[in-house]
Amino acid sequence: MDKLVIEGGIKLKGEVTISGAKNAVLPILAATLLTDDACSIKGVPDLRDTNTMLKILRSLGKNADMEKGIVDVSSAKACGYVADYKLVSTMRASFCVLGPLLGKLKKAKVSLPGGCIIGVRPVDLHIKGIKALGAQVDIDSGYIIAKADTLKGAHIYLGGMYGSSVLATDNVMMAAVLAKGKTIIESAACEPEVEDLAVFLNKMGAKIKGHGTPLIEIEGVRHLHGAAHTVIPDRIEAGTIAIAALITQGDITIKNMLPQHLGAVIDKLEESGASFVRAHGALRVRRKRQLNAVNVTTLPYPGFPTDMQAQVMALMGVTPGISVITEKIYPDRFMHVAELNRMGAAIQREGPHAIVEGKKWLSGAPVMASDLRASASLVLAGLAARGKTAISRIYHLERGYENIEEKLQKLGARIWRQKE
Ligand code: EPZ
Repeated sequence: MDKLVIEGGIKLKGEVTISGAKNAVLPILAATLLTDDACSIKGVPDLRDTNTMLKILRSLGKNADMEKGIVDVSSAKACGYVADYKLVSTMRASFCVLGPLLGKLKKAKVSLPGGCIIGVRPVDLHIKGIKALGAQVDIDSGYIIAKADTLKGAHIYLGGMYGSSVLATDNVMMAAVLAKGKTIIESAACEPEVEDLAVFLNKMGAKIKGHGTPLIEIEGVRHLHGAAHTVIPDRIEAGTIAIAALITQGDITIKNMLPQHLGAVIDKLEESGASFVRAHGALRVRRKRQLNAVNVTTLPYPGFPTDMQAQVMALMGVTPGISVITEKIYPDRFMHVAELNRMGAAIQREGPHAIVEGKKWLSGAPVMASDLRASASLVLAGLAARGKTAISRIYHLERGYENIEEKLQKLGARIWRQKE
């Protein structure tokens, strides 16, 4: 396994172009299961997770190949309905094939995704939604087995104890587009990635309204045809790069990003003293002054995204003052705390809160990545730290950040890959 070595202390400067959104691409690729026609998806980042989804599509009978960010999907043979444990267990987002398989074939057998390091990751809302549409659901030997003679539109409240669910909204939407009649999803997830999926489904001939709001209406249709689509830019990568500019006291112009998808993050970082200037479809990020500590609470979109929590914690770790970071989506999503503290940060966990006392500087150290966004926070801390940081298990990082070391090298970072 490789590790990533970073020599910190360099101010990152220059331009970077953001890749397509991982969390939009994954359900959109799954949605190609809803038609036998060919689909072409552009702006697909070359990531572990997107390649895993291509493998799943192939295992279900599709031709699915990626060339220079373009994925062409077509039907090789009759679509299978079993999403195998060995693939689903490597990426829990594979669970979003449940909705399209059920929608298209009226049957699906998908391995339960299980938990991961950031939390238990239940699927009760997914099951509630497909049952409301008329599916019989059994759980057997770690698989969800869902089948239905017909799927009928329903009024479904999809809010859980932590608010809305992104992939449950995706799954229910994809099961409902070919159902008979109208489906209303109340307390739907509003994330831009959910909205982008709906845009793609409508290009395929679906009749979806209200996507991007908590109330989504779906008029079932009889058939979906192939479509072409370019996915939205990855707002979490953009937010991560913005923090790279701030934590290194640099000056980065971020291209191919939609500031309106990062409103809560931009607002919070401006409160801390960051300057965001929009120019020609790009966003220039630097400090206006010495940053000050800010408090952060993660919430469903349009609130502050949980996927930016670890990254903003790294920034607060070297910002004077006390910052209270509250994680309301995954209360255990703090694997990065111990690793940041190994670098000299002063972070104390209190249940769903992390109290961060900003230090003047962090010191480079050997650290271990535990999950995708925790590894991003370790990269950010390494960029700011004095001395060398060596991050092991960087396969976590490769799941969600395309060519991250090249992008950072182009900005002046001293970062390289080394054999473990
Ligand atoms: C999506 O996961 C993202 N993944 C996650 O990004 C992101 O952190 C999460 O949404 C929240 O924004 C993809 O889109 C592939 P949820 P998802 O269902 O859909 C609870 C990353 O770093 N819940 O919105 O699985 C759940 O436990 C990844 O890119 C239920 O209670 O998340 C959590 O507390 C990590 N029952 C909350 O809802 C359910 O049936 C939100 O989870 C489903 C979820």
